[in-house]
Amino acid sequence: MSHNTRQRRLAAQRACDHILSGLRPTTMRERLADLDAGGDLDGQPDFYGDGPVATLEERVAELLGTEAAVFFPTGTMAQQVALRYGADRTGHPTVALHPLGHLEADERHAYANLSGLRSTWPTTEPRNLTAEEITALAEPVSTVVMELPLRNAGFVLPTWDELAAAAAAAHAVGARVHFDGARVWESTPYLAHTLNEIAGLADSTYVSFYKTIGGISGAVLAGTTDLASYARIWRRRYGGEVFQQWPAALSALAGLDTELPRIPDYVRHARTVAAALSALPGARVHPEPPHTHRFRLWLPHPAQALNDAALALAEEEKVWFVAGWQDAAVPGMAMAEVTVAAPALDWTPDDVAEAGERFLGRVVEQ
Ligand SMILES: Cc1ncc(COP(=O)(O)O)c(C=O)c1O
Repeated sequence: MSHNTRQRRLAAQRACDHILSGLRPTTMRERLADLDAGGDLDGQPDFYGDGPVATLEERVAELLGTEAAVFFPTGTMAQQVALRYGADRTGHPTVALHPLGHLEADERHAYANLSGLRSTWPTTEPRNLTAEEITALAEPVSTVVMELPLRNAGFVLPTWDELAAAAAAAHAVGARVHFDGARVWESTPYLAHTLNEIAGLADSTYVSFYKTIGGISGAVLAGTTDLASYARIWRRRYGGEVFQQWPAALSALAGLDTELPRIPDYVRHARTVAAALSALPGARVHPEPPHTHRFRLWLPHPAQALNDAALALAEEEKVWFVAGWQDAAVPGMAMAEVTVAAPALDWTPDDVAEAGERFLGRVVEQ
């Protein structure tokens, strides 16, 4: 998407009276004002990781019930360090990943290029790894990674029993368990366990602050004090020990206070919205019902026609329906990710159906 298209789309979404999928885009000035909610703006900024950054680390360690937590500028860097730690401690350069996971699909194979690690895929099925697949691994692995939820498969989660069994199977074959918990925040309702209990199954967990929590950027790697000491050394080596990160830290702290408690409502309402969307002509939702407040929606039209219709509906009727369509593998179908957050909470199934009809009425196929 070009810069101009993106700006036009953001301006249209921002001006909407009703938003179904996603959040109303904020300006930098609004973001600055929000920082006030995260801590004392009259205090000293952080100096290489103290102050609000240290407060955030303590807060997340407490939430996840881990001995320690280390702030990173990106999740990509945090997870490289987690995998490197596992390989160093176990002596095995192979890690068990899912081909659809972020580490494999979206990081240009940093684990191989930066750390010399190899991956093995216990499955290519569009869901997380199972205990049986982990037990059947033909070679020793240092770390088994589970992405909770697995975004590229439709934000899907295992059940709690499946997750616990997979973690036990990984430990039984001598591997460490690492959770890519970029979106673990919204996994608690489906798993029916607390963040503390979920992270308790893993040896390390990474969480992100800018996806669901609404922060500016940043991540934390949580685990034992030994992992944390190692992570601080490697964070420095990777160039991740940033002089000041207080905007990211304060926005994350604010998000943990304000956004985290609302997530169960989003997840509950996502089921209502998904059911209404699946009743649109030719629509398909996955997973149904959704496991989190995000899911995939398919419609039988080309992506370009759907993106144009979404923008026209926004600009002319001030209604933001669902955007970000991509052509799907099945010809003539397009897929978009739907996120049900605060702006969607007052949408009834009838509202979804009516707006859906107006949206589809604007689809013009070439
Ligand atoms: C599942 C998952 N893991 C890891 C990351 C990496 O996060 P970052 O952008 O902070 O490097 C992302 C980012 O989108 C993600 O979705």
